[in-house]
Amino acid sequence: MCGIVGYIGNGETQQILLEGLKKLEYRGYDSAGIAVFTEQGLEVTKSKGRIANLEEKLEGTPLLGSVGIGHTRWATHGKPSDVNSHPHTDNSHQFSVVHNGIIENYLDLKEELIAKGHVFVSETDTEVVSHLIAEEYDGNLVEAVQRAVKHMRGAYALGVLTSHEPDKLVAVRYASPLVIGIGEGENFIGSDIPAILEYTRNVYILDDGDMAVLTHDGVELFNLEGKSIAKDIVHIDWDLVTAEKAGFDHFMLKEIYEQPKAYRETMLGRVSEDGKSVDLSKELEMNDEYIRSISKVHIVACGTAYHAGLVGKSVIESLARIPVETDVASEYRYRSPIITPDTLVIVVSQSGETADTLAAMREAQRNGARVLAITNVVGSSVAREANDVIATWAGPEIAVASTKAYSSQLIAFYLLGLHLARVLGTKEEAELTHIIEGLTALPEQVESILEQASVLKQVAESMSHHTSLFFIGRGVDYAVAQEGSLKLKEISYIHSEAYAAGELKHGTLALIEDDIPVIALVTQEGLFEKTLSNITEVKARGAHVFAVTNQGFEAEVAKSVDEVFAIPKTLPVLTPALAVVPLQLISYYASLALGHDVDKPRNLAKSVTVE
Ligand code: F6R
Repeated sequence: MCGIVGYIGNGETQQILLEGLKKLEYRGYDSAGIAVFTEQGLEVTKSKGRIANLEEKLEGTPLLGSVGIGHTRWATHGKPSDVNSHPHTDNSHQFSVVHNGIIENYLDLKEELIAKGHVFVSETDTEVVSHLIAEEYDGNLVEAVQRAVKHMRGAYALGVLTSHEPDKLVAVRYASPLVIGIGEGENFIGSDIPAILEYTRNVYILDDGDMAVLTHDGVELFNLEGKSIAKDIVHIDWDLVTAEKAGFDHFMLKEIYEQPKAYRETMLGRVSEDGKSVDLSKELEMNDEYIRSISKVHIVACGTAYHAGLVGKSVIESLARIPVETDVASEYRYRSPIITPDTLVIVVSQSGETADTLAAMREAQRNGARVLAITNVVGSSVAREANDVIATWAGPEIAVASTKAYSSQLIAFYLLGLHLARVLGTKEEAELTHIIEGLTALPEQVESILEQASVLKQVAESMSHHTSLFFIGRGVDYAVAQEGSLKLKEISYIHSEAYAAGELKHGTLALIEDDIPVIALVTQEGLFEKTLSNITEVKARGAHVFAVTNQGFEAEVAKSVDEVFAIPKTLPVLTPALAVVPLQLISYYASLALGHDVDKPRNLAKSVTVE
């Protein structure tokens, strides 16, 4: 997804912009560009492809100046190309804009501007913004931006420069994240904190409708009516090193190996020191009386986070006995969901900025529901707008393919399920303690799976030459199968499908042919026999079956399959937090064997801030 960086000060502007953009590469992008006010005026260099292409262009003709903006674009309006890349300018080349988000009414605005004589060169909505600001300008950039945004509908984080006022950088936010970095004699803007963290740890986090005017010496904050506003400076105490690879070949592998730590962090302070109880009441605003009034839960999320929600459904239903529906966020709003004041809506989002999830959450709040967010990014839009937040504390996740964020979302669901069950009295104390014991054992159990990575590497390599494969499972195994399949698709580009094992014979069996790989999850003790008979069905049609089961059952399962991998024994409800790990490793090694860009798979972005 798009990234913004901006700088004003006496440092090496071009270098600061490029370094900032590199820190945002993990968000996914297809082109990059910078604009700097130089002795020649406002100069723009941009390039389709990687930041390295942009650097090459700048090599002979660097942009020297003390104010600039930069952008990594992930195409929405118009294909990836030099001309569609940001920054965009107006016809006079006096105004330059970088933009994250989407201007929904840009075609209407464009028509009006064309009628006034503006000529457009790109297909983007952002170019309209630069023309609109130029049109509104009458000697004061801040006022021009304020007037321009009043015409705009949609989402935007903007960085704006004009050669008329080269001592100024203006930033404004609406529904797309933007932070302001406060330095000494220099100031910064960034769509994400990593873009500026190398230079400052003191930031303002803009809210919707906030505007910042940056000069060398300071930052002034306004609302869109031009009224001065005050904000607390937030000190960022996490380190950029945590966002680096730390010796692993890829961020994804590092993040897979960070899962034991992530599990511990998610549980920290939430499981009592004696390991006997879970209490979230200190961090949740919702009280016990509200919890007792909940009649149903809706879990809403996208992609991998949605898959965590599928496990969450089973956790909440089995522990707290509250009925749960799960929805992908892009569908939720449009199916007229029955949301009542006693519906608890749980949104799950690693980034906390996913547009569909945010929109679903706002719809739920408009309908009077309370929203609880499970997110990894404290300070994200989702976290700030939700009524309650459970932070997953998994640390920054850089690889596009989510691993530790997903599994720590599972831990958050376990904690929530245990909390609800305690308040509602749906489980005996002893049973809850037993589950908590299982929960706290998970980090070490994941470590023991990671020690067997080489076995999974071989499995992945042998599967990597296939063009299609299947994941099957029943109950929560089916939820994990869906996540395993998504992970494999997104980074290895191998076609795969996840099926509820009992559904195969209703159509999918037609696709099973000689040697096709099937990854079967067989971890739910009550469903063993049923799943094994489904495995027999695919084996009979020539499939090569790799099964993930629990320790102690390998010998039994081995009789029906070609290869078995055993995860440590845990309670059935907790198995997803272990069973997903071998699937993550298989995807990683398959992608590696095929020579793909593991951390930045094609066509995908880390944070999807458009609907
Ligand atoms: C896949 C993946 C995506 C995200 C989805 C939602 O590995 O990461 O499917 O889970 O785009 O993103 P968040 O969790 O940031 O809302």
